[in-house]
Amino acid sequence: MKKKIENRDDIALLVHTFYDAIRQNEEIGFYFNETITNWPEHLEKLIDFWEMNLFGGRKYTGNPIEAHNQVDEKFDHSITPETFGIWLNIWFATIDRLFEGENADTLKRRARKMNTMLYLNIFQNRNSNKA
Ligand code: HEM
Repeated sequence: MKKKIENRDDIALLVHTFYDAIRQNEEIGFYFNETITNWPEHLEKLIDFWEMNLFGGRKYTGNPIEAHNQVDEKFDHSITPETFGIWLNIWFATIDRLFEGENADTLKRRARKMNTMLYLNIFQNRNSNKA
């Protein structure tokens, strides 16, 4: 029986399992493996991010738009909607494998929104660099 997402420990399990799968993914794993040097720190940051997203609070202080614009620049603007699509499929599959319920659905919906927002910002950032 799958469980509900109820606290930080549940989010930690989700984030750890998700990044295990991402790192092994042949199509997009390298973006992460070649960028992130301190994995424990990255995972803590992402747990903070999703915990704040779901339960509130102010632990996460990063800047996702800036971070992804930089990743796109580092990899010669090779990020496409498909890259984000693969990310999202792995996120959905990981959530569905481990959890069920309203918070699980919310985290899928929030990632989908974030996906559109991040990609549009990458696109805009490329154009503004050309001007
Ligand atoms: C909806 C989709 C995504 C969400 C919600 C998301 C979320 C995040 C967040 C919150 C961070 C931490 C940013 C910070 O505070 O430094 C991050 C970092 C990162 N993301 Fe994503 N991400 C998404 C898609 C992607 C995709 C498709 C890629 C691959 C191209 C990617 C690659 C990275 C990398 C490499 C970092 C680390 C950046 C660094 O530390 O220099 N992300 N992501």
